[in-house]
Amino acid sequence: MSQINSQNLNSPRARNEIEFMKGYSAPLEGRRGYLRLDFNENTIGPSPRVIEAIRKFDLKELAIYPEYMGIKKAFIQNLNNKIPFNKIKIEEICMFNGVDAAIHSIFLAYGSKADDFLTTTPTFGYYYPCANMQGMNIINIPYENNNFNYPLENIYKILLERKPKILMICNPNNPTGTKLSAKEIFKLAKISKGTLIVIDELYEAFDNISIIPEVNFNEFQNIIVLRSLSKTAGLAGLRIGFAIGAEKIIKNIKCVTGPYDINSIAVEATFAALKDQAYIDNYVQEVINAKHWLKDELIKYQIKYHINGGNYFLLWPKNDSLKVEKELKERGILVRNMKGKNLINGSIRVSIGSQSQMKKFLYEYIDIDQVKEIS
Ligand SMILES: Cc1ncc(COP(=O)(O)O)c(C=O)c1O
Repeated sequence: MSQINSQNLNSPRARNEIEFMKGYSAPLEGRRGYLRLDFNENTIGPSPRVIEAIRKFDLKELAIYPEYMGIKKAFIQNLNNKIPFNKIKIEEICMFNGVDAAIHSIFLAYGSKADDFLTTTPTFGYYYPCANMQGMNIINIPYENNNFNYPLENIYKILLERKPKILMICNPNNPTGTKLSAKEIFKLAKISKGTLIVIDELYEAFDNISIIPEVNFNEFQNIIVLRSLSKTAGLAGLRIGFAIGAEKIIKNIKCVTGPYDINSIAVEATFAALKDQAYIDNYVQEVINAKHWLKDELIKYQIKYHINGGNYFLLWPKNDSLKVEKELKERGILVRNMKGKNLINGSIRVSIGSQSQMKKFLYEYIDIDQVKEIS
């Protein structure tokens, strides 16, 4: 009898996949009061219009289940404002308690035991427990070369040979920042009609690479796109995410989603955030400016780094990465250690915020890792 069985004789057994699973855990506790460069959140907070909307929230609403039609229409209008053709329809979107919940629902609806789940490595960690809880077979293809290029040929081949149930493309990829063009994604989708291709676009705004302006969901009935207000609009704590895809896929994932999963305050805040697109655009531009500044500085100090898409970058300290992480924390700065991650072991991932925040980070880091400027 296995150890798990003998320990749980008085308690019902969960499904086998769950009993033997290691749950997903992120170091979320005790982060207040620090400069938080560890979760790629917006580092300055939401628009003042969001704060005002929450302050004015009618408390009578607390006793009533939320309604969603208005916010779905507002989201669609926000999307369609940026799209010349292929306007998105209301039946092509669905709301979630953060994109994490969307990812969970996609696996619940489409992943069966022993089906193949195809993805790249290293990538966002929450895909794996979602595949594991369905008992799926995970195929992990490493990014290629020093630049962490997308392994296009390999993915193409596996799509043709194994016809996996789900392909997850994190675009740009967290944590390597690797980007794939809409053209390349459509090529993959065309040869794999039976594979659900999930494009996790959480960080697309920082590189303006969304496929939404170009995708036609009548043509691509196997693509679903994920969007969130966590990273750009500063609403990570309210948990709001969207999935956009062909009507049939949306109908299927709605079947495994609770009817009131998004709370009324999140709905109200989202209305306000969507009305203040200029605030989001300005924040994104600030991050892009900070990224340019950082790149120059990293070169100047000859720090080993990798910057590509998204609002984050990787760097490889000369000293032990755990020690550097700990010392940064002692100086009030949180970063994410990539210890044990495929291809990037020994690095730390740093979120990019405003230029002044990046200055604070970099000069502390330089002091800790004894980096010298090269003249
Ligand atoms: C690639 C990626 N997808 C999804 C998520 C989850 O986002 P949300 O806050 O909308 O649940 C994250 C959060 O870090 C992420 O990096």
